[in-house]
Amino acid sequence: RPESVSATLPFTPIDPVGYEVDEFTVPAGYAWIPLIRWGDPLFDDSPAFDAMNQTAESQARQFGYNNDYTDVLRLDDTHALLFVNHEYTNEGIMFPAAQIENEPERVRAVARAAHGLSVVELERPRVQAPWSVVVGASRNRRFLMDTPYELTGPAAGGELLRTSADPTGTRVLGTIGNCAGGTTPWGTILSGEENFHGYFRASGTSEAERRYGLADEPSVYGWELDEERFDTRNPGYENEANRFGWIVEIDPADPQSTPRKHTALGRFKHEGANVRVDGNGHVAAYMGDDERFDYLYKFVSSGTYREGDRANNMQLLTAGSLYVARFDGNSESEIDGSGEVPSDGRFDGTGEWLPLMVDGESRVEGFTVEEVLVHTRLAADLAGATKMDRCEDVEPNPATGRVYIACTNNSERGVGDGAVADEANPRADNRDGHIIELIEDGDDVTAARFSWNILMLAGDASQGDPVYFSGFPADQVSPISCPDNVAFDSEGNLWISTDGAPDGIGYNDGLFKVTLEGERRGLVEQFLSVPTEAETCGPVIHDDERHVFVAVQHPGEDGAFGAQHSYWPDYAREGATGTDGTFHGPRPAVVQVLP
Ligand code: FEO
Ligand code: CA
Ligand code: CA
Ligand code: CA
Repeated sequence: RPESVSATLPFTPIDPVGYEVDEFTVPAGYAWIPLIRWGDPLFDDSPAFDAMNQTAESQARQFGYNNDYTDVLRLDDTHALLFVNHEYTNEGIMFPAAQIENEPERVRAVARAAHGLSVVELERPRVQAPWSVVVGASRNRRFLMDTPYELTGPAAGGELLRTSADPTGTRVLGTIGNCAGGTTPWGTILSGEENFHGYFRASGTSEAERRYGLADEPSVYGWELDEERFDTRNPGYENEANRFGWIVEIDPADPQSTPRKHTALGRFKHEGANVRVDGNGHVAAYMGDDERFDYLYKFVSSGTYREGDRANNMQLLTAGSLYVARFDGNSESEIDGSGEVPSDGRFDGTGEWLPLMVDGESRVEGFTVEEVLVHTRLAADLAGATKMDRCEDVEPNPATGRVYIACTNNSERGVGDGAVADEANPRADNRDGHIIELIEDGDDVTAARFSWNILMLAGDASQGDPVYFSGFPADQVSPISCPDNVAFDSEGNLWISTDGAPDGIGYNDGLFKVTLEGERRGLVEQFLSVPTEAETCGPVIHDDERHVFVAVQHPGEDGAFGAQHSYWPDYAREGATGTDGTFHGPRPAVVQVLP
C-alpha cells in the first residue's frame, strides 16, 4: 500500500487485526491511553468502581457504560470539555451471575444509572500533552433517567406527547439509546435517541407502534417492572414511548441547563444529527434512521445563524422544515444487486428532498403536523422516500459542504420480501455497507434537489468481495466493513469508524482515513483497531496536535461475567470471578491516541 501523505497526521496504515485479538492497535510511532472508563469517578463524592458491589447511587456518580458519540471541545490550550453518550448496557458482562439471578431490581437500577450522557472537564499541563479527567470539576455532569428534558417545536405540548405524569406534554424524564451525535457551530451537542423501542412494553396494536418496533412482549431491559411508564399499556402512559426517539440538544458548558428534545427534527430511530451552516447563514441538520429500509432526512431551520448570537442560535432547531430523501439513479444498465459498476462508470444520480413539514405546516395528506413529527416513519412512507441500507452517521464535510452518509449494511436487501437493489443501495445482501456522497444543488442547504454518488462499497477485495473505491485500486486499500460513525480532519479527509467488521470481513473493527480529493480519492488507510467484539465509536480527529480519540463500545460483548472474552483495557485477569475486588472483565472506555 502507498504511504500516507497526510501533512498533519502522518502514519503508516496498520494491518487488519483478527477478530479474536483482544488488543488495541495503533500505527508505529503512536501510543494509546484510556482517558476514562466505565465506572470511573466524576465527582468528589463518587465511590470507587467496585464491580461486585455497584449500586444505583454509585453508578450515578461515575462514568456510564457503552460510550458512543464523543467530542473533545478545547476551551484553551490546557482545558477541554469531554462529552459522551452512554447508549446501552450489557448486563451479562457487567454483573456477577449471582446478582443477576438474586438481585434483579438492583441490577436494573445500576444499569439505568449507567445510561444517559456525561460531561467531564479535562486538563493537561501543556499543549499536546495527554488530557486527564478533572474529578469534581464544576461542569462535570451525569444525565440520568430522572433528568428533566424540555420538548420543543410544533409537536411539544400536543396530545400525542401527554401522559398522566406530564399533562403538559413538554417535560420528559431521561434519554435512552443515545447513539451518534454532532456538535453544532454554536457549541451545543446533538445526541440521537436510537433504539428506544427496546425499553418499552406496549400494546403493539397500532400501525405506528408496529412501524417503530413496539410490541406486547417483555422489554429487553425490563424497566417496566420498576417504572410503570415503561409499560405503555398502563392507563395514563399510552404516549410515553412517543417521548423518546428524538434529537436531544445539550449545552455542555452550562451544568444547570435543561437539555431539550426537538420535535421539529422528527421522531425515528435517530442515529444522530449534524448541522451545516451554508454561505447564506441557512442551517440544515442531516439525519439517518438506522433501520433496514428506512430513510435519510434533512431539517432546515426557519431562522438563520448569527455568529456570536447564542440566544438566536439556540432556537434554530425549534422551528423549520423537515424533508426525506428520494435517490434517483442515472445509469441505463440494470442494477442487479451484484455490486458491478454501472455502464456509465459510477453509481450516481440526482435526488429530491420530499417535504414532510414546511415552516411548521404538514405537507403529508391526512397527517397533522403533530402526526408528521411523532409518526415520522409513516409520513415518510407516504411521501415515497428511498429505502436505504441503514443510514448511520450523516455528516457534512466542513471543508466542502458535501454530505457523507454511512450505510452500514443490510442483510435483507434483495432477499425475500426486502426491496431490491437500486443505484444508491446497489448490493443485494449488503454485508459490508457503503458510503454515499451527497452534494446540495447550488451548495445551498435549503436546496430541494441534490446530486449524489457512491464513494465506496466496503469489503475486502482479497476475499472476493464486490467492492468499489471511486476507482482507486481495491488491492491497495485497507479492508473495511460496516461504516458507522464519520469525522473529518482539518485537511478535509474523511475518517470512518466501523461496527460489524468481525461478522463481515472477519477482522476487528477500527478507524480508517479516506482521502476524498485528487488522484488518491478512495484510498482507505486503517489507523487503529479495537479489541475483540468491540465497536469503534465517536472518532475525534485533532490532527493539528496529532491526537485522535475514539470510544470503544462493548468490548467482549459475547462473554459472561467470570468467563469474559475481553479484559481490555486493564487486562486484570487474576481470579476470574473478581472476588478480590478487582474487575476481571472489559470496561468500555474513551481512548486518546497520540505520538
Ligand atoms: Fe447505535 Fe445505529 O448504531
Ligand atoms: Ca450512474
Ligand atoms: Ca452507531
Ligand atoms: Ca452500528
